[in-house]
Amino acid sequence: MEQRVTRLGTNGLPEAFQQVDLAALAAREGTPLYVYAAPAIRERVRGLREALAGLDAGIRYAVKANGNGAVLRLLAEEGAGADIVSGGELQRALRAGIAAADIVFSGVGKSDAEIALALEVGIGRFNIESRAELDAIQRIAAARGDRAVASVRINPDVDAQTHAKISTGKAENKFGVSIDEARAWFAAKAQWPDVQLDGLHMHIGSQLLSLDPVREALARMAAFWKELDAAGHAIASIDVGGGLGVRYREGEHAPDAREYADAIARALAGFRGRILVEPGRWLVAEAGLVLTRAMLEKHGEQRSFLVLDAAMNDLLRPSLYDAWHDIVRIGGADGRDATTYDVVGPVCETGDTFATGRTLPRCEAGDLVAILGAGAYAASMGSTYNSRPLPAEVMVDGARYAVVRRRQSLEEMLGGEQPATDWKTP
Ligand code: LLP
Repeated sequence: MEQRVTRLGTNGLPEAFQQVDLAALAAREGTPLYVYAAPAIRERVRGLREALAGLDAGIRYAVKANGNGAVLRLLAEEGAGADIVSGGELQRALRAGIAAADIVFSGVGKSDAEIALALEVGIGRFNIESRAELDAIQRIAAARGDRAVASVRINPDVDAQTHAKISTGKAENKFGVSIDEARAWFAAKAQWPDVQLDGLHMHIGSQLLSLDPVREALARMAAFWKELDAAGHAIASIDVGGGLGVRYREGEHAPDAREYADAIARALAGFRGRILVEPGRWLVAEAGLVLTRAMLEKHGEQRSFLVLDAAMNDLLRPSLYDAWHDIVRIGGADGRDATTYDVVGPVCETGDTFATGRTLPRCEAGDLVAILGAGAYAASMGSTYNSRPLPAEVMVDGARYAVVRRRQSLEEMLGGEQPATDWKTP
């Protein structure tokens, strides 16, 4: 399937950003600025829906990728539900108009308060990751006179072939339980009478550029579903998780939605329950960029640095995972010489580096630069490190834009702090 609006134009920017005047936008809203293109998000979610059309499948968008309310609302309008991992994400999803029944709750550590809230609002399903959690959900549901619907998150022990820090499906990882443990839960499910244990879940990792590990994990899950079915445990839901990778680097090949849907359809042929998918990155990453201004050029003894006004606290991925993000000078080469820079932010850490040895048209102070692929795991992983207020977020649609989160003010950043004058004994 051709992804039209995230295809890069001759100026290096995705199609979805071509109509908006990014220089005027930066002048009006300041930098650094997260910019999300609504048409690109719409195209992705529709593309995935179409690819899954032959299956009884639902999309549960992983809110952690980008929890901005406007992004969630857009996805909700296109029929997506949500995969959440905290009470905060639950509230975000509900506020964006996502029906509680279309929400699944994942994560290795759910607090009693979060479990109770999820039951109270009537979420669709818990993805349970440990025996302790299963016991807690039973206890809380019983006390409320409620019944929880749940899936077991299986750890299929496959290598997702991605960065170690975002690989989740190996036996040594903290996520999910072994098939042996899950089998024992099903055999003993009468012990948890207020938990309707009738689903399987997996999520083997993120930014998967090959579908082979997905196929392998799906095969293990499918064999287990058939085994459970034969043992009289009807399985109503199979959640295949998220993880579909995107193209961060021009020329990189990422799997497309049809190949992915095809892998799911083949592995789960004959399954008559509901299939859930939990993509985060694939729906939003390429629909976003960080618009940032060059502060200065610095020529060191060994390297040339381009210092931007965005930093690791606005986009942590390069520091945390050595991730590549394409970087584009707005305005193109404009007759400038190609220059090789270490592209960095102003934060006081060597790790505050977006790219090493990257060749760009020579940039001067004040030039605008876009860091691509910043629609996922950028703002959502942001912090105020170095006391830098959170940037604004805007959504563009054609030539128009709307501020979807205003820039954090100094007062907001400092709000809640107070001098140690009110001493108490706990
Ligand atoms: N479902 C579960 C249970 C997850 O833990 C995740 C992501 C997803 C779905 C969505 O995965 P996606 O489709 O976005 O790959 N901060 C890292 C990514 C961490 C992903 C954590 N879990 C990064 O910037 O690459």
